[in-house]
Amino acid sequence: DSVTPPLATALGFTAVAKNRNDIVSIPAGYTATTLLRLGDPLTASTSAYRNDGTDSDFSQRAGDHHDGMHFFGMDSAGRYSENAVDRGLLVMNHENITEIYLHVNGPSPAPRPESEARKEIEAHGVSVVEVAKGSNGRFAYVQSSTFNRRITPFTPIQLNGPVAGSAYAKTAYSPTGTMTRGTINNCANGYTPWGTYLTCEENWAGYFRRAADDDSKRSATEVVLLKRSGTNQGAAGSNAWATVTPASASETGYSRWDISLRGSSTDGTDDFRNEAYTYGYIVEIDPFNPSSVPRKRTALGRFGHEGAWPAEPVSGQPLVFYMGDDSRGEYVYKWVSDALWNPADATGGLAAGDKYLDAGTLYVAKFAADGSGQWIALKQGQNGLTAANTLYPFASQADIAVATRLAADSVGATRMDRPEWAAVNPANGEVYLTLTNNANRGSSSNQPLDAANPRAYSDFKGTREQKGNVNGHIIRWKEDGNQASLTFKWDVYVFGAQADADATNVNLSSLTDDNDMSSPDGLAFGPNGLIWIQTDDGAYTDVTNCMMLAAVPGAYGDGAAKDVVSGTTTTRTYVGKAPGTNLRRFLVGPVECEITGITWTPDGKAMFVNIQHPGEAGSLTSITSHFPDGGTSRPRSATVVITKDDGGVIGV
Ligand code: FEO
Ligand code: CA
Ligand code: CA
Ligand code: CA
Repeated sequence: DSVTPPLATALGFTAVAKNRNDIVSIPAGYTATTLLRLGDPLTASTSAYRNDGTDSDFSQRAGDHHDGMHFFGMDSAGRYSENAVDRGLLVMNHENITEIYLHVNGPSPAPRPESEARKEIEAHGVSVVEVAKGSNGRFAYVQSSTFNRRITPFTPIQLNGPVAGSAYAKTAYSPTGTMTRGTINNCANGYTPWGTYLTCEENWAGYFRRAADDDSKRSATEVVLLKRSGTNQGAAGSNAWATVTPASASETGYSRWDISLRGSSTDGTDDFRNEAYTYGYIVEIDPFNPSSVPRKRTALGRFGHEGAWPAEPVSGQPLVFYMGDDSRGEYVYKWVSDALWNPADATGGLAAGDKYLDAGTLYVAKFAADGSGQWIALKQGQNGLTAANTLYPFASQADIAVATRLAADSVGATRMDRPEWAAVNPANGEVYLTLTNNANRGSSSNQPLDAANPRAYSDFKGTREQKGNVNGHIIRWKEDGNQASLTFKWDVYVFGAQADADATNVNLSSLTDDNDMSSPDGLAFGPNGLIWIQTDDGAYTDVTNCMMLAAVPGAYGDGAAKDVVSGTTTTRTYVGKAPGTNLRRFLVGPVECEITGITWTPDGKAMFVNIQHPGEAGSLTSITSHFPDGGTSRPRSATVVITKDDGGVIGV
């Protein structure tokens, strides 16, 4: 590409100190500008956000808890352009809400008023927002753009892949099982070579109510599936949306949050017992076609999807996407398309998605103790995934697509320390994946210490709990051969740790005050090949707010084998070379935020970063963050755009 900057070989900024200030701290020579906040209006006729709990109309405003996002450059004809740097569509997830700040006096108890529930539901989902550089050279969002769009848990979405039309997907809303309503808990993301956005449904299970006697109404097999998916009997459902009595009797948008079996049909078309089987997927959105119906790509499996990161497409080879299932002891997955990449499909829109994301093979990773690894196919009829399987009857690919965790259990995949984001190094195709932390590591019987998850104690000082892998790590692998290979070699790029932690068994990557961190989560390579690491940390926040670091990546195998001691257990693992000054803290966020979501203009000169849930632990009488508006304001999740004052490429 003509606009792509050269690969960086060194960092060009001074490390930002850890701090607990209520601002975005960045290095000298850079400027951060607030671009899009919770509640900002997305149509010309929507009023400015009052931010006092009286606003509604979130279907026309930016949602809450900004998370994964991607910048799609746009040419003057309104089409996707890989080389457009002054104008584009910023597509971002709104993972969740900080409920207290959405209402005048905080949320009312159940039964929830419809007006409050609607606001909360519509503050979830995805925003498509046009952004453009103004005459001052700075990006702003375009309030009146006809491309602006909200996709919420109310938006009709098509089911594609093996689950579409299956018995799993039949509901009162869609008796044919071909449609569902909305997407929720959209965490991280991905994008495709044809200019569409992938949004990933992560902690969707918690939103559903399921009655205390519901197991008795289901088959034993289905109870196994419901439990393994996190849709637990007796769960009340976050935000109690199922308790709303809607104004219109035909409104099914609230009762579907109760997945208890209530009807008398045999196929579920008279209730919402199957509703949760239409959640937990990768969802494809075409931002350049505002009237298009998004599609859930069920072939890529159903679990706590964190993200879906593409490997660089190669003409004539399959397309490859890497995915994490973020829960304690869950797995790492890879999708390999059947169709071979044809660059002519780069303008194919959702039809290209049908070609590359509905037919292919889903694999799960097994990390061996000798530093090798393999991808195991989750394909019906292979690797014991048959109707006779004792964990779950896998009679069709739909069974695997819905009960993906059970299929991965069955083939003996490696239980990891909460797989979050993955990123593919544009220089060499190596894959990095954050394992944010895992309190169960080393204590849960099915999560013993292993080579790929080798730490159980992270040496926290003071009164903090010392349990499991508190600080997390970033694992890295190199496929043997091309990206679709079924075997790989792995090592650990970096272990999270406090700088003053035990250097022998905890601070294994020799982190210093300039780069120590905990709980890596967001992860991406920028256009110049630097890797950026964002934290979501409940353990280190007594010392510093969450942060973002940048690094010149090393390469697989640049370190050595090492024995790590946790209690009485010694585990051999493979530790990459200590990053030293090649890893540096670039940003510290405001109070109680998580830093998550990052994207760039393709020239690497503007970087968009999301500040999620500042002040989330506060109350209306004791607001703990006033980011970004200051004064006595309620805090708002927000996107900031960061530029270098000399107009150069970020980070170098
Ligand atoms: Fe939404 Fe796994 O972070
Ligand atoms: Ca995350
Ligand atoms: Ca996280
Ligand atoms: Ca979050």
